[in-house]
Amino acid sequence: MTKVQVPEEEKKREWLSWICDSQTPEELRDKYDTWANSYDRDVEKDWRFMPRNAALALQKVLPTKDAKILDAGAGTGLLGEALAELGYTKVIAADLSQEMLAVAKKKQVYKELYQCNLEDSQAFAKETFDAILATGVFALAHAGVAVLHNLFGYLKPDGVLLMTIRGDYRNQMQEALDKLPWSLVSQDEFGIYETDTMYVLVFRKGR
Ligand SMILES: C[S@@+](CC[C@H](N)C(=O)[O-])C[C@H]1O[C@@H](n2cnc3c(N)ncnc32)[C@H](O)[C@@H]1O
Repeated sequence: MTKVQVPEEEKKREWLSWICDSQTPEELRDKYDTWANSYDRDVEKDWRFMPRNAALALQKVLPTKDAKILDAGAGTGLLGEALAELGYTKVIAADLSQEMLAVAKKKQVYKELYQCNLEDSQAFAKETFDAILATGVFALAHAGVAVLHNLFGYLKPDGVLLMTIRGDYRNQMQEALDKLPWSLVSQDEFGIYETDTMYVLVFRKGR
């Protein structure tokens, strides 16, 4: 029997759709738990550059290295690693998946790590963070308007929220993004998955 080779591009799309088909936060958490140990390897080529770009975008608007930062949906800590390389020292990780956090913890780039659902408005106290970053989190079946509002609440006045977001999902979120009392202070865009556009948006709370 001839063995059919699945092209790399299709394999990548398989895990993307597997994750984004999740129907509940529990299902999403379980999938990330299962994926945790091979996540870094699987996303090396297609995603790792995005957390790096996000960290560089933060540095332009918040050069203070002891700023209190929340890595929202930290996963295995790719963003934490990029922030540590730039010298940030007070980064806190939050994620649904205990197994993703277990991988992140081993990297020793976070001050604290919390397993939580960011849809829970009590996950952190109001006005706690100088910056909140969410890379790969505002996406289909992941975080939406409820998480956006909670993260906004956890930001200090003048704090910055940085997110990566794909063009199609940005269109869905645009109304909610426009309604919050903040300003868009920077926007970068990158090609991703061959044909898509990924934005790195940075907002500052208050107008
Ligand atoms: C694509 S991964 C991105 C991980 C990391 N930020 C990165 O850039 O590699 C998405 C992460 O968001 C987490 N996540 C999704 N929805 C969440 C929620 N509502 N609360 C907390 N974490 C969430 C998932 O568990 C997963 O680890």
